[in-house]
Formats: sequence, structure tokens, C-alpha cells
Amino acid sequence: MKTELNYLENSILVIFGISGDLSKRKILPAIYHLIKDGMVPSKTIIIGTSRKDVSLDVLMKDVELCVLEESKVCDQETLLKFKKMLSIIKFDPIDMNDYLLLKKRFNDIEEQYKECFNRLYYLSVPPDSVEPIIKKLGLSGLNKSCQHNQGKSRLLIEKPFGNDLSSASYLIKEISKFFKEDQIFRIDHYLAKETAQNIFAFRKHNPVFWKLWDKNSISSIEIKAFEKIGIENRVNFYEHMGALKDLVQSHLLQLLSLITMEIDPNKSTKSSDIHSAKLKLLTQVIPLNKRTIKELKVGQYKGYKKEVSNPKTKVETYIKLKLEINNKRWLGTPIFLETGKALNKKTTEININFKSKNIKQTNTLTFRIQPNEGIDIKLIVKEPGLIDKLKETYMDFSYQTTFHQSTHPDAYERVLVDAFKGDQTLFATSSEVIASWKILEPLLKFWDKNPKKLIIYKEGLNPTNI
Ligand code: BG6
Repeated sequence: MKTELNYLENSILVIFGISGDLSKRKILPAIYHLIKDGMVPSKTIIIGTSRKDVSLDVLMKDVELCVLEESKVCDQETLLKFKKMLSIIKFDPIDMNDYLLLKKRFNDIEEQYKECFNRLYYLSVPPDSVEPIIKKLGLSGLNKSCQHNQGKSRLLIEKPFGNDLSSASYLIKEISKFFKEDQIFRIDHYLAKETAQNIFAFRKHNPVFWKLWDKNSISSIEIKAFEKIGIENRVNFYEHMGALKDLVQSHLLQLLSLITMEIDPNKSTKSSDIHSAKLKLLTQVIPLNKRTIKELKVGQYKGYKKEVSNPKTKVETYIKLKLEINNKRWLGTPIFLETGKALNKKTTEININFKSKNIKQTNTLTFRIQPNEGIDIKLIVKEPGLIDKLKETYMDFSYQTTFHQSTHPDAYERVLVDAFKGDQTLFATSSEVIASWKILEPLLKFWDKNPKKLIIYKEGLNPTNI
């Protein structure tokens, strides 16, 4: 029987935009599973805000709460606990009164329990609502701790953090007027994926690779994130984004930094050490320039224009670009980032291609972030027989075989637990966000003045054919 792990402090979680797509697909199911696993203290209070009148039962019917359950059927006890914790309030994010009412509600709760709760604000709202909400949270005093001044108040923000370098800098400056850096949790859910977390552990604890982790032994690195789905219903969002801003600026550059940052195996690693190593690395990535811009590939899937009802749209749904890192370890090793929607497969993986001598085959170390999570290494062996013939084969670690788990916690479960705990390791800092935008800024400027040379590709295409 699972017991409740009471190490998380009592908290009030406010989900702004509870009836939105992300909340229904990711946040609420993640909370359901955390409750089921005994990770959420029973005193936790969850308040969802919605502009419209939404009843709890109607919302719950609409949520894919138990998709991860083997039978897809919800556990009734968990469901009851969840419903007891959760209430939905009608809330107008531009009305200051509603923030003051929320504050009063907090005070009443804390009076009732005679204790201070941490406050966690999850902003699952469109990008342009982020800053106005944060400002009002600040002006109404909701950025502070509870009335007894002991709890913490924290902010969970979904990407994108800005739309380019200047808007990101502006956003960071505005938020910092009300929330300090240690109160802000910028979600990059790729960092919370089990296999992405394993990159660090793998690099640190497998000395066999330490001496090989540089330009002398590695010929190239490929970081790829392909999706079968298109933009789903996110027309407005995607028309302002495109693949570069949506995936490269955040997820792929974060993965790049995990793969290439300095790791000292002899040092214990605090969150701040990891962040400073990542930041150092990101500032060493050479920003895109004339040469690398010339080499990049951008594409758009065939039905995109129709889907967004914009025949002139130039938004890219596919991009492949090359980056280089200007430091002693990596200068000269090309790093390819590639991502696209509406392709023939859903995979995210990182290939480390090692140099080979006198043969065309190479050893490749692959981190399979998803699906079929695991790590494998391609080896070259001699085929049995009288003729010397080489064959590629694999040494394979798969989560499923080793840990006998067909599923592991969803990234959003990890995001929530870490934010409840106040552990910022898996979140992007403001400096990392700025450093990432700086790498891409020359391309955005170039695109402002020059039309994109889009390759139009058929839905379901294998990306190697783009
Ligand atoms: C999000 C992007 O951050 O990641 C989406 O905005 C994308 O466009 C999604 O579909 C992919 O996430 P995952 O976890 O399914 O690989």
C-alpha cells in the first residue's frame, strides 16, 4: 500500500487557465497521479481560475485524467481526494478586485487551519497574459508570503519566455519587480523528462566516456525532435512562434547545454553549479551568422496554410540548423538541431557520433529521450564467417527492460513536485533564457528583412527526405 509522503509543505496551488488545453492534457492528469502516488499532502488546496463559469464535474469530464492508467479507468479513491482539494473560481485576470478576493480567500484558509501555506501560481495562460497577471499578483500583494510571513510564494511559468531577445529581456525585467529569481520556475518540460535527467547522471558516472567527450573523439552531435502531430488547434500561438521559437529556443538548446556543458565528476553538484555550467556553455555557443544561416533548412507542411487560414504565412514547421561552440572542448564539432511537425514519427533523440578510422561506419551513442526511452551505443563488429565483413550492432539500455516499467512519471509530475519543493534545478533561469535568445537573434533579424526559403513538405514525410 502506498503511504502519503508528507515531505512537501502544505501549499495552495492556483492554476490560472484551468480550463485550457495544457491544464486538461498535462497539469490535471499530473496532479491526479501525484495524489495517487501519495505525493501530495492531504491539506493541499488547489484553486483553478477560469474566465467562464465552469463546474468541477463538467471540467473533470473533459480531462484526460487517467490516460496513463493501464485500464484508462480512474481510481475512485484518488478521484475523490482530488475533487476534495480542487475548486474552480470565476476570475477575470484584468480585474484587480478578483486578485484581492483571492488574497482574502488565502487569508481565510490560513485562519481556518491556523497555519501558513506556501503559494504556487501556475500560469497556464496565453503568452500575452503572463505579464499582466504577474503585475496584478504583485500589486495585490499576492507575491508575498502568507499573513504570518513564513510561507513561500512561487511562480510557475510556461514557455515561451518572450518572443525574441528584447521582449524576453523586457518580460524578465517586469517580472523581477515583483518576484525574485528564486521564486520563479520557468518550465521547460523537456528537462523534466526522465531520459533528459539521465544525460547528466550518465555523463557524470560513466568514466569510460569522460576522455572521449570532446572534439578530438566526437565528429558531430545531432539533437532531433520530430512530431507526428501538426499544430493541433494552436493557430494563434503557432503563427507567432514557428519551430525555431517553439522548440529550438527552449527544449533543444537546453538539451544541447546538458550534453556539452562541463561536468566535474569529482564535485557534488548543486542546482546552482548546474545552472552556471549551462549558462557558461550557452554563452559560448556561436550565435547564428551569415554562414550558418546560409546552411539552414526550413520547411512548412503542406496543409499548414489552410489550417491557419493564412495563404501568405511563412511560419516554419520544420527547421534544421548547425551550431558550433567556441571553447577548447568543442570548437570544430558541428552540432545539428532539427525539429519538425507533421512528420512520419514522434521521436526525440540525441546522437553523439564518434570519429572513426579508415571505415565509414561510426560508433554512435544515442540518448532516446522518447519514445522507447533508453540509451544505446552502436558498435562495429565482424560478422561470423570466412570473409571479413563488418556489421553494425547495438548495446542497448532500455527503461522498459531494466526497470520493468512501461511508464514513468510524466514530466509535468516532476515539474510540479520540484516547484512545490522549491528545487530549481530543472527550470530555466532568466540568464539561460537570454543566452538562448542571443544565439538565435541574428536569424530572427535576418528573417525580418529576407523572405524565408521554405521547403513545402508532405505530411507524414520522413525528415531525412526534406
Ligand atoms: C511544446 C511545444 O513545448 O512541446 C509543442 O510548444 C510541442 O509545439 C510539445 O508539441 C512537444 O512536447 P512533447 O513532450 O510531446 O515532446
